[in-house]
Amino acid sequence: MGLAATRSVALLGVRGHLVDVEVHVAQGLPAMVITGLADTALGEARDRVRAALVNSGCPWPSRRITVNLAPADLPKHGSGYDLAIAAGILLASGALPARAVTSLKGLVLLGELTLDGRVRGVRGVLPAVLAARGCGARRVVVAEATGSEARLVPGVEVISVGSLAALLAWAGGGSLEGTVADGGAGAPWGVGCALGTGGTSDRGRPEGALPGTAVSGPTDRSASPMRVDLADVRGQPVGRAALEIAAAGGHHLLLIGPPGAGKTMLAERLPGILPDLERAAALETTAVHSVAGLLEPGAPLVTRPPFQDPHHSASRAAVIGGGTGFPRPGALSLAHHGVLLLDEAPEFKVDVLEALRQPLESGEVVIARAAGTARYPARFQLVLAANPCPCGLAAGADDRCRCSPQARRRYLARLSGPLLDRVDLQVDLPAVSRFDLADGSSSESSAAVAERVAEARRRTASRAARTGAGRFRANAEVPGHLLRQHWPLGSAADPAHELLRRGLLTARGVDRVLRVAWTLADLAGRARPSAEDVRVAAAYRLAGARS
Ligand SMILES: Nc1ncnc2c1ncn2[C@@H]1O[C@H](COP(=O)(O)OP(=O)(O)O)[C@@H](O)[C@H]1O
Ligand SMILES: [Mg+2]
Ligand SMILES: [Zn+2]
Repeated sequence: MGLAATRSVALLGVRGHLVDVEVHVAQGLPAMVITGLADTALGEARDRVRAALVNSGCPWPSRRITVNLAPADLPKHGSGYDLAIAAGILLASGALPARAVTSLKGLVLLGELTLDGRVRGVRGVLPAVLAARGCGARRVVVAEATGSEARLVPGVEVISVGSLAALLAWAGGGSLEGTVADGGAGAPWGVGCALGTGGTSDRGRPEGALPGTAVSGPTDRSASPMRVDLADVRGQPVGRAALEIAAAGGHHLLLIGPPGAGKTMLAERLPGILPDLERAAALETTAVHSVAGLLEPGAPLVTRPPFQDPHHSASRAAVIGGGTGFPRPGALSLAHHGVLLLDEAPEFKVDVLEALRQPLESGEVVIARAAGTARYPARFQLVLAANPCPCGLAAGADDRCRCSPQARRRYLARLSGPLLDRVDLQVDLPAVSRFDLADGSSSESSAAVAERVAEARRRTASRAARTGAGRFRANAEVPGHLLRQHWPLGSAADPAHELLRRGLLTARGVDRVLRVAWTLADLAGRARPSAEDVRVAAAYRLAGARS
């Protein structure tokens, strides 16, 4: 009988906090009490842990068991504490041989238990292991299904187990090879679901890989790059050019045009011409996707820019983040270091559009709760697509539009000034002509465009390093004062200043025009933008404004 402690991790947003799991087994009426829990899933831990222990052949102490998860004021959600609680009970009840006691001491354990003693993966393993390492932990135990995700963190030994029995066998000195749970003799439910991570399908997880709460929700389109190519897009030279500039400079983009012009088609092809994520960015993005339960077990690291296109009917929580209980990352955060497309943007609820402004400014979503504040990173490239009017026909020579002038104005005005103010590139797309669509010759491929984009970004980065402006991956990231201080343009900037004087651009607008001008120069391989580059950049900025 006695006292023991193991450790686990609680997540607040993508930040992990170490949790001490203290277990006391004492004389008294047989009972089990868990304190320091937040939600019902944790309350159910009691039943799961007992069933898992009994079905793994472990003795269940007929004593009074008290489990305390500390600190108590840290909100704790989900089922990930099961494994740490089970190990704590075994340690405290003195049921383990000395060697196993030594192995389990000081371990951080992350995993849900099934009633038959298998270990299921949980969300957020990457940020949890990062937090554990930050607190000095050198070893963590996770479910097999999340083993490769945990191993993305260097400097931590990862023990991945398929079952509680496998954990105990390892702790007792056995090897993990072949320590596969039999799933409990006669267990009526799908045995072997959580075992093994092989057989990963192209999209999403292998069937039944992480049953129950562990993984659910939309398929992660960012993990498996979309197989769409710019070669499929006919005509639209202005739209294609704008897409390339957006990719090269990281600029936000607005596409306006009639239905069928290819707005969605173009927007979906933006991630494909962006460079691979750098290691640090890849880990940040992976952490968000991990918390959302969207990683593929076989290849957990998100290395390509993610793409998110929430439907305009989606809830605020789905787009921005939040929801009841555990605050979830929304599409904004799942698009971190990637592309967020708001297709049919004026159809989105006004409060959703308004809620975009803060993350666009700060690069993160802050979800305040009584229990604590969750922060999710949200540094994405925004693409807005819109019809010119509610019926969509008010473009070019088309005169079938019956929308009143007020209705037209109101429609695009839904994209408020402060939001549009952050969109450097605004493009009017004409309807695709029948001639273009019938054209059999193929257009330039995404791979060819991506090469120019990468070259332009290399120029940006080396200029930033050379001039001491800082470390920037894209022109859109350079703050206005650094832009003017380090990369002065002299008289080439005159066209922008002229628009400022005439009240057509704000001071902030001038900075945005100059950033795009730098991107044009970087794409063309010019050392600095010409007055013509500035004029072209200003035209991109002002195009949408006349609608
Ligand atoms: N420029 C284009 N080149 C080739 N096909 C196009 C083009 N524009 C539209 N299409 C065809 O029309 C369909 C609808 O295009 P979409 O991108 O959804 O238009 P929008 O979003 O502007 O309404 C596409 O799936 C494609 O088959
Ligand atoms: Mg569309
Ligand atoms: Zn109309």
